[in-house]
Amino acid sequence: MTSQEIRQKYLDFFAARGHAIIPSASLLPENDPTTLFTGSGMQPLVPCLLGEAHPLGRRLVNSQKSFRAEDMDEVGDNRHTTFFEMLGNWSLGDYFKKEQLAWFFEFLTDGVGLDPQRLYISVFAGDEKNSVPRDTESVEIWKKAFAAKGIEARDAELLTEARGGELGMQDGRIFYYDAKKNWWSRSGTPDQMPAGEPGGPDSEVFFDFQTPHDPKFGKECHPNCDCGRFMEIGNSVFMEYRRVIANNANSGGNNANKNRGEWFEKLPQRNVDFGGGLERIAAASINCPDIFKIDTLGAILEEMKRRFSWDYDLASDGERKIMRIVADHLRAAVFMAGDGVFPSNKHRGYMLRKILRRAIFKAHKLASGFSNLYPLANTVISSYKSAYPELAERSKDIHSVLEEEEMKFMKTIVGGTREFEHLVKNGKITGVDAFNLYQSHGFPWELTEELSLQRGLDVNPAEFQAEFEKHQELSRTASAGTFRGGLADQSEPVVRLHTTTHLLNAALRKVLGDHVWQKGSNITPERTRFDFTHAAKLTEEQKQEVEKIVNEAIARDYEVKKEVLPLEEARKLGAIGVFGEKYSDTVSAYTVWDPETGEVFSREFCGGPHVAHTGEIKGKFHVVKEEAVAAGVRRIKGVVE
Ligand code: ALA
Repeated sequence: MTSQEIRQKYLDFFAARGHAIIPSASLLPENDPTTLFTGSGMQPLVPCLLGEAHPLGRRLVNSQKSFRAEDMDEVGDNRHTTFFEMLGNWSLGDYFKKEQLAWFFEFLTDGVGLDPQRLYISVFAGDEKNSVPRDTESVEIWKKAFAAKGIEARDAELLTEARGGELGMQDGRIFYYDAKKNWWSRSGTPDQMPAGEPGGPDSEVFFDFQTPHDPKFGKECHPNCDCGRFMEIGNSVFMEYRRVIANNANSGGNNANKNRGEWFEKLPQRNVDFGGGLERIAAASINCPDIFKIDTLGAILEEMKRRFSWDYDLASDGERKIMRIVADHLRAAVFMAGDGVFPSNKHRGYMLRKILRRAIFKAHKLASGFSNLYPLANTVISSYKSAYPELAERSKDIHSVLEEEEMKFMKTIVGGTREFEHLVKNGKITGVDAFNLYQSHGFPWELTEELSLQRGLDVNPAEFQAEFEKHQELSRTASAGTFRGGLADQSEPVVRLHTTTHLLNAALRKVLGDHVWQKGSNITPERTRFDFTHAAKLTEEQKQEVEKIVNEAIARDYEVKKEVLPLEEARKLGAIGVFGEKYSDTVSAYTVWDPETGEVFSREFCGGPHVAHTGEIKGKFHVVKEEAVAAGVRRIKGVVE
């Protein structure tokens, strides 16, 4: 089956079982600062997994556009991509393991037509420390499902990848693995989860391509082996837990006193969060371990052959790797531009620029026959426009974004090459030269290296790297001066109002919704001024509700805790707000919380300073003025009296 057919079949299959089909959310998460891009189907649904009602009910299904930048370096093999479509179905406190596992099995075997003999299963082995039991229930369900197809499914314990590599298949079909493999949350294993984060044990399905085992990856093969024989094609997460106490060195000493079992609580409802890689299921359905051979990705390779005479099937391994990178990055760029991202030097725009330039650069490296990348956007749009109509609607914009960026990059390359020729006259290229080419001309290091090699000149990557790091250090120090020092005025009234401003930000989001984002703030010893995104004037009731929530937070005497942590981690923890240093990898965040219950009132990127406890704000918060400052932006002036 083609991926187009599988996508439709999946939606129909779950619709026939009472699921509402919901559209894919944008690649740009709305009001979710945990990641730059939507990386899984559950992300837009987190509030519903935590108990909020979804307007379309308790059973949902979709195919979600997803992008995972963290996989970029792995792209080039036969199974990794940055962009992918995640098939997802959800039970929000409705059905659970029995239905989910049986349905997915039915879909794969009867729906897609996969041979059940080729399917292998992993389940959660249990986590004693966190009092989460071994998932024997799923094992029983799987055994029954396989038995109905005449297959006796034996279970075996592997726990870790290393043990799997030693023990191998042991005639088993269902394998117990530990939390590193069979627990899912946005932040990883139970011990990596911050307070408030939902997660749970999961059960994965693997397809066996029956390729020979490569002992480079361990003596024996097993489903989680990376040799390429097995490919994970779907993951059912039984999301019924939430972390209540943060397991984090900065979270205070009282954790040690807590009974370990108290680190998790059951969510108010038992959820199923299923995610399946559409491209991978499609690859399994054509029994081809190379996902680039499926319809949608294959169409890009076909177009490359037509335009550039690149023949994927005849290419060397190295050439094939480049073609995969180009195809993957092009597709991701089309979807990003389709969701309104423009190339720039920060955040999402930077990521779009990076993947586009990387694709163009690699394509040039493959050289012969290559002209321009942007016309291939059409191929991607044609393949996907029926499932994602926004691509057709924005087709013109997508083309011009890609074309413009490609032209800019070509200029960079021409300018950089000229400069390179100039430098070469000195008879050598130093690391500093290479860095300057990169810094002032955006000239990629790889190109400097390649041109140097062509001339028989030595250029030292370590020298370039050292220069690069030195520069990063400098810019970090410079920005620390600008941002990390926080407020210039650190007098007590200003510090009190600064914490009050965080409470106000959180209260506005609680009252008006998660579309509220800080647009600016200005604090004097007398008052705080806070600008935020919201379309309408606040009603009298809304203002009073905001004041009430802020004053309750002051009365609760929450602890205000500072953490310095990697940016990605802060995002995962749900920190909101503005962080100043775009290239810094560590940021500070302030959390207003109750260490006893783990309840988090607010978490924001911020340099501080703040009071240690909200009780120190001493007084009553009051909104003195609420007005519009621009279209869609309101301003509140508030005081503490
Ligand atoms: N949310 C789960 C995943 O991304 C299904 O694997």
